[in-house]
Amino acid sequence: MGSASLCNKTMALLYLTTLSLCLVSTVAELQRLQQLANGDGSASFLVVGDWGRKGAYNQSHVAHQMGRIGEKLNVNFVVSTGDNFYDNGLIGVDDPAFEESFTKIYTAKSLQKPWYSVLGNHDYRGDVKAQISPVLRKIDSRWVCLRSFLVNAEVAELFFIDTNPFVDMYFTDPKEHTYDWRGVLPSRENHIANALKELDLALMESPAKWKIVIGHHAIRSVGHHGDTEELVNQLLPILKANNVDLYINGHDHCLEHISSNDSPIQYLTSGAGSKAWRGDVKELNRDGVKFFYDGQGFMSVELTQTDANFVFYDVSGEVLHRFNLLKPLYADM
Ligand SMILES: *[C@@H]1O[C@H](CO)[C@@H](O)[C@H](O)[C@H]1NC(C)=O
Repeated sequence: MGSASLCNKTMALLYLTTLSLCLVSTVAELQRLQQLANGDGSASFLVVGDWGRKGAYNQSHVAHQMGRIGEKLNVNFVVSTGDNFYDNGLIGVDDPAFEESFTKIYTAKSLQKPWYSVLGNHDYRGDVKAQISPVLRKIDSRWVCLRSFLVNAEVAELFFIDTNPFVDMYFTDPKEHTYDWRGVLPSRENHIANALKELDLALMESPAKWKIVIGHHAIRSVGHHGDTEELVNQLLPILKANNVDLYINGHDHCLEHISSNDSPIQYLTSGAGSKAWRGDVKELNRDGVKFFYDGQGFMSVELTQTDANFVFYDVSGEVLHRFNLLKPLYADM
């Protein structure tokens, strides 16, 4: 009897050890934020990118029109696709640029909602930890900027991924710029592998009707920077495998809508929050290019269980392009 209970204890210990080892090797879960939608389950939001220039380059005009459209659609939140503060991110949590480029620019009542933001390459040229610090929320409670996270907005889940660590050029090119890689280095490979695993898991488990992935860099673009090959190779297969509906990015200072015949994913660029009109569009006649605009503007998204409506606007709020996607109500049955 004595030896039997000893054996049981040993088994129990072994079991506990194995269990804790399993837990340690599990990929962390993506940080999950809850966003209330409307009473009927619908949700709407605006998307703007590449904006923080203290109002210059038409940033204030775009902001004004966002306020107007935001009110018309009664948006639940705003998405920023990164390059939030030019030219070199924030220098610290008390950098006045935070208020000068954000708080004092997006003043409309309709924009006093959460701003879910990813980091752009210009943000990495400053103090990244400051830009993702919750301290900024004490200055402006709208600001939600993290590296990778997900927002559950009931009818949709939005998956935000930090695409900067994927881009080889920032690590290998002659040191034209310095980037704040704290939290990414020393093991860039591990960082990327974990980010992809977290995203894959979260997408797999998502019960949401619409799955939207947001990052700073484009997967597909005919603008200045073009496709981001690292994302085509590493991120896109995960989006395809998990029936993602949309990939939304900034980085190219334009508005564009691209589709492709290798998946139903729609590629949307909203990176026109301030400086634009670069004038070096490539392959406008590439397959799947539905819309391209080289100037300033932003985008709105309205979602219900069966219907998604997308509209692109210019600097004076004129509609440039619209399209919608439909889903059968009982697609999963
Ligand atoms: C501001 O927008 C107008 C209208 O699109 C455009 O003509 C003008 O060039 C823009 N200004 C800048 C600095 O981009």
